[in-house]
Amino acid sequence: MTAREPVVTVALDPDWASGALVDDVRRGLGSQPRTLPPKWLYDDVGSDLFDEITRLPEYYPTEAERAILRDHADDIVAACDATTVVELGSGTSDKTRTLLDAFTAAGTLERFVPVDVSEQTLRDAAVMLSERYPSLRVEALVGDFTLHLAHLPSGGRRLVAFLGSTIGNFYVEERAAFLGALHDSLEPGDWFLLGTDLVKSTDRLIAAYDDGRGVTAAFVTNCLRVLNRELGADFDVDAFSYVPFWDPRQERMDLRLRADMPQRVTIPGADLAIELTHGEEIRVEISTKFRPDRLRDELGSAGFSVERTWTDAAGDFALTLARRET
Ligand code: SAH
Ligand code: TRP
Repeated sequence: MTAREPVVTVALDPDWASGALVDDVRRGLGSQPRTLPPKWLYDDVGSDLFDEITRLPEYYPTEAERAILRDHADDIVAACDATTVVELGSGTSDKTRTLLDAFTAAGTLERFVPVDVSEQTLRDAAVMLSERYPSLRVEALVGDFTLHLAHLPSGGRRLVAFLGSTIGNFYVEERAAFLGALHDSLEPGDWFLLGTDLVKSTDRLIAAYDDGRGVTAAFVTNCLRVLNRELGADFDVDAFSYVPFWDPRQERMDLRLRADMPQRVTIPGADLAIELTHGEEIRVEISTKFRPDRLRDELGSAGFSVERTWTDAAGDFALTLARRET
């Protein structure tokens, strides 16, 4: 079979990125404590840095999740009757290939729908996947999974994969809203495959988010470069330190940037000027770590029943197969 061209649909309107960025920056940086939402980490440079993070020896989640997929892809295929796989925040869909290999070997899958805000990374991945899986229709969606779930193609039995513990990057209320919206966009009987990082020793968590080569620090700091480029801001990027810490009460990594000196920053594109005091912090990202019971409860509250859970040999990471109830 010859490879088909992937179909790429853009759900983001052309000014969405700038419009939503301005809103997020006004709301997040204009109030206390100062925050920035994580989707702005993934411009082309950020996507490449993230790819580098997934290959760091300290960053165990990628390999742990890959091992679970390697060991259990056949179980997932046998357990669910999906004809379409949707992947949210798909990036390069690197680990997902293990799952697609198992589905195509079984001959039951018709379509793959990767969804990501990072347009170029998604387009490149869609071309690669169409070549690798000539029997699949690849229908990529450039969109925001917090806004555009209604644009997911319907028809057939769907499995929505959300890997990489990306769900851990939502705040608690956002996570509940996301699960509710996902539930509403699916049909009864559709499947949800969720990758989550689990609570573990603080030392290993800190190491995973503060690698020796400074790749993670560069990734987090990149959000300031995005604001300088997109909104004409004048952040002195070198005048910030990367401060990752474990919040034991909320069971999450909290990743911040701290101003090493007082700074006045102007952000013309957002019509905003802010004064940062010495030591003031900007919250860029959280990465929540889960416990299986809590996950089951949260999924249950959103109308999903857990069918199977797999972990890697070290118990670092979990992959949960859930189903939308009727
Ligand atoms: N699934 C891959 C990549 C995880 S990184 C893995 O497991 O390794 C998170 C991915 O989600 C990035 O590709 C980023 O561009 C994308 N992303 C982040 N926020 C998003 C949003 N709101 N909507 C859609 N994609 C988003
Ligand atoms: N979902 C990934 C995680 O929470 C995203 C991520 C990996 C990340 N490394 C990071 C986010 C470093 C910010 C900083 O692990």
